[in-house]
Amino acid sequence: MKNRLVCLLAFFVFASLLSGTAGAQPPKLAATPPMGWNSWNHFAGKIDDATVRVQTDAMVSNGMRDAGYIYINIDDTWQGERDAQGIIHSNSKFPDMKALADYVHSKGLKLGIYSSPGLKTCAKYEGSYGHEDQDAKTYADWGIDYLKYDLCSFRDMMKQADSPESAHKMMVDAYIKMRDALLKTGRPIVYSLCQYGNDAVWRWGVSVGGNLWRTTGDISDRYARMAEIGFSQAGIAKYAGPGHWNDPDMLEVGNGGMNAEEYRTHMSLWAILAAPLLAGNDLSTMTPETISLLTNKEVVAIDQDKAGIQGDRVSAEGPMEIWMRPLADGSKAVALFNRHAQPMDMHVDFQQLGFKSKMKMRDVWAGKDIEVTNGQYEARVPGHGVVLLRVSK
Ligand code: GLA
Repeated sequence: MKNRLVCLLAFFVFASLLSGTAGAQPPKLAATPPMGWNSWNHFAGKIDDATVRVQTDAMVSNGMRDAGYIYINIDDTWQGERDAQGIIHSNSKFPDMKALADYVHSKGLKLGIYSSPGLKTCAKYEGSYGHEDQDAKTYADWGIDYLKYDLCSFRDMMKQADSPESAHKMMVDAYIKMRDALLKTGRPIVYSLCQYGNDAVWRWGVSVGGNLWRTTGDISDRYARMAEIGFSQAGIAKYAGPGHWNDPDMLEVGNGGMNAEEYRTHMSLWAILAAPLLAGNDLSTMTPETISLLTNKEVVAIDQDKAGIQGDRVSAEGPMEIWMRPLADGSKAVALFNRHAQPMDMHVDFQQLGFKSKMKMRDVWAGKDIEVTNGQYEARVPGHGVVLLRVSK
């Protein structure tokens, strides 16, 4: 009897191990597009320890952390000299990187950092070339959770290659080298590739370990540039998914160069694209409007939808574009974008989009339910603006 009980017990332990119920799996890195803040767009070379702490505090007090923004990412210009052993040290703007990481972690947030596979970063600071293992270990020792790895001066080395194919291989190898270095540390560190979309990175970013990869050159705080980048993402949705995302660059919301309609377009398009949401403004001086743009729950929920299916363009009539993103609960996010400077009347035939004539619909930015009984929807969309809908059967 006792033997049979022991056998039974052993069987259940074995079965539960097999089915994975014995212990929950740790959540995968970047299971949804990373959310947080990055220093570059607003502070560029002026970023320092004190400013990072102020941003960290602001992210907690203004509700962004609770809305899902987790990463505090230091971009270029933190790097100092290497010592005799080749170990990188931060410069005088960052007196103690480990203490800073401890501070960020104490607020329930994570810390990101930046480097380049080249000898120099884009702002001409020390890159990781020849020191990949050492640098990854240093980051892990400090408690870093995210690395943006920016091609920059590595392009000069690629120019020495004897063919485009071998230049491509040099770049791929450089990204693999840092991936392996990060893995060796044993610390989960989100790996963000930045090489401006060269060589159609979306096709191979996942194979070099990227959790996200920049698909474009740099954004700027102007509607024309944001729209050029965002709307150029048509056709690459299939390359994104949980753990590996297309990254059309950081947000400019709140930096002042676009009006509220344009920033709503920016947020809506990035949510449809399942893009990382990395705020690029000064979090300590936000207007209530900027806070509401960045933390709108229903917009963030679309971006962070757990199915992780990136949306795509379904139609374009001149400047009027309709984009759609399938969501985990069977509903769809549908965005009506007007790229013209003047208002336009836009029309959606939901039957053509696969819906029946009756459906439930919500205007996300207005926070209002809409009644549709004939499958047709008309809206006047402001210049450079958007109507973002969440539609279910
Ligand atoms: C490149 C990147 C930017 C930023 C700067 C920093 O331009 O694309 O996002 O990191 O370098 O020098």
